Amino acid sequence: DRGAYPYYMLKEIDEQPAVLHRIQETYLQDSGIPVLDQEMLNAMAKADRIYIVGAGTSYHAGLVGQTLFEKLAQVPTQAVLASEFAYTDPILSKHPFFIFLTQSGETADSRQVLVRVNEEWQAPSLTITNVENSTLYREASYQLLLQAGPEIAVASTKAYTAQIAVEAVVAKALGTRKQVPAADAFDLQHELSLAANAIQAIVDDKAQIKTVAHKDLATTRNAFYIGRGVDYFVALEAALKLKEISYIQAEGFASGELKHGTIALIEDQTPVIALITQARTASHTRGNIQEVQSRGAQVLTIVSENLAKTSDQLVIPSISELLMPLISVVPAQLLAYYASLERGYNVDQPRNLAKSVTVE
Ligand code: F6R
Repeated sequence: DRGAYPYYMLKEIDEQPAVLHRIQETYLQDSGIPVLDQEMLNAMAKADRIYIVGAGTSYHAGLVGQTLFEKLAQVPTQAVLASEFAYTDPILSKHPFFIFLTQSGETADSRQVLVRVNEEWQAPSLTITNVENSTLYREASYQLLLQAGPEIAVASTKAYTAQIAVEAVVAKALGTRKQVPAADAFDLQHELSLAANAIQAIVDDKAQIKTVAHKDLATTRNAFYIGRGVDYFVALEAALKLKEISYIQAEGFASGELKHGTIALIEDQTPVIALITQARTASHTRGNIQEVQSRGAQVLTIVSENLAKTSDQLVIPSISELLMPLISVVPAQLLAYYASLERGYNVDQPRNLAKSVTVE
């Protein structure tokens, strides 16, 4: 029931702080120590490489997961597109462990990879899904639930943030199990509380984002999101949200790649939305902003507070850089929502799309 909300998508965006709290309650003790199946952690600790399999938004959450598992658990980790991985002959590592990210648990391409994992590669697997007893839930060796509550809008929002939060729980638990100092030092309990508060502050201030959508996205033909590192991964997700419900041709780019071709597309007034949440690359992305500005781009910045300058428009609270995707994606979700409304579309039921994609 969407109550007073005009669309499920807005309700689901607003639910994200509560979802993070539920993940804390379900998977973390008061002391912050993750409560996960020891047998699963033992199996993961034997892995020399983790493959994270997903499609669409779930793939984008997997990209963020790469960074989480590499930093917190020091395991080489690779996010892969289910629809590609299912039909190629990857040279797997000796002891692979597979994580399936799937909101519905029914995505046919992802399932196809799981069938190969079970029959051909005989490797252990974990499905992280929102739907108990879904196909991918049943067929994996281990399973964790996203605790996000039903996601009705076709455009995925709270499942994405829940996927990242659950990945962080697993990465922290694995890192602790392997005595990785970065995992012990990472106060996930505290960071998730900060993330929930930060998201709450952003959704409480929606009016600001609505104004930006009206100004920059009401009539444009195309738009670009740029960023580096995890900001690039969020740029991919942000662009997907925009295209699927507003039908604006939107692309996410690694900002350093712009000058290798894409910058040719920048014209007078082209919207370019830059994500800046990582200290190491902030000045590089700012350089890329200048490059597009000098070609006439209409630039909007989404920047964490600790890296913000007075010229930045959407300043978001800063928490651990590893978890900034939980926060920086929210203004992008809202921009997509308001752009779709501005253009008069049915936000929850975009054309040509189904909530669960059960054909390969
Ligand atoms: C985009 C979206 C899709 C899904 C994709 C995978 O907003 O919802 O890209 O993320 O179809 O679906 P699941 O996660 O159910 O496997």
